[in-house]
Amino acid sequence: MKITYLGHASLAIELAGKHLIVDPFISANPLAFAIDMSSLKADYILITHAHQDHILDVETIAKNTGAKVVSNYEIVTHFGAKGIDGHPMNHGGSWQFDFGRLTYTNAIHSSSFPDGSYGGQPGGFILETDETNIYIAGDTALTYDMKLIPLQTKIDLAVLPVGDNFTMGYESACIAADFVQCNRILGYHFDTFGYIEINHKDAMRHFKENGKELTLLPIGDSMEIFKK
Ligand code: NI
Ligand code: MN
Repeated sequence: MKITYLGHASLAIELAGKHLIVDPFISANPLAFAIDMSSLKADYILITHAHQDHILDVETIAKNTGAKVVSNYEIVTHFGAKGIDGHPMNHGGSWQFDFGRLTYTNAIHSSSFPDGSYGGQPGGFILETDETNIYIAGDTALTYDMKLIPLQTKIDLAVLPVGDNFTMGYESACIAADFVQCNRILGYHFDTFGYIEINHKDAMRHFKENGKELTLLPIGDSMEIFKK
């Protein structure tokens, strides 16, 4: 499984010959100027919640690629009204897709659309494949619910927000990594706006001191994930 960081909370995931895009917010992110949206491949677009910084480029990418949206019922219905195909889910539910098995997990956050309309409850995803399992937390606070995840799934990589203010900061994210029993963390949701700028060295040191490895990828860079 190859994960490419597209900036903010946006990811491109390649596995089993399929391409997934997570929470695309690229065209209005000045830090992501080097990402060419028209070249992105997508079979599916995973959306954690309805906030602008997670859905801004969904329509463009879906229309460029014909990708199917996977999210909570309300978000899938919203994009369905725009002619975009989707697969609705809700918390705790799993579905076997042609790339792997997805579970929509709980997140402590909010999820209104930019116009204020209801965007369902915010979530995250567990992605289980033959190769490896990852947890994409979405925008969330540290929550005890994360402790339920390793009861069912061995997580090889946890993608966690580390920017603080709107989500947990890196110290809480380090505890979240303990809760999901995973020592390998990809940080996201940092630096995009003034509210979420972080000191990368301090964040990485904090994880290291706690026996964990935090990766903060430069935008456009990729990492390969294998089962340990
Ligand atoms: Ni949000
Ligand atoms: Mn956000």
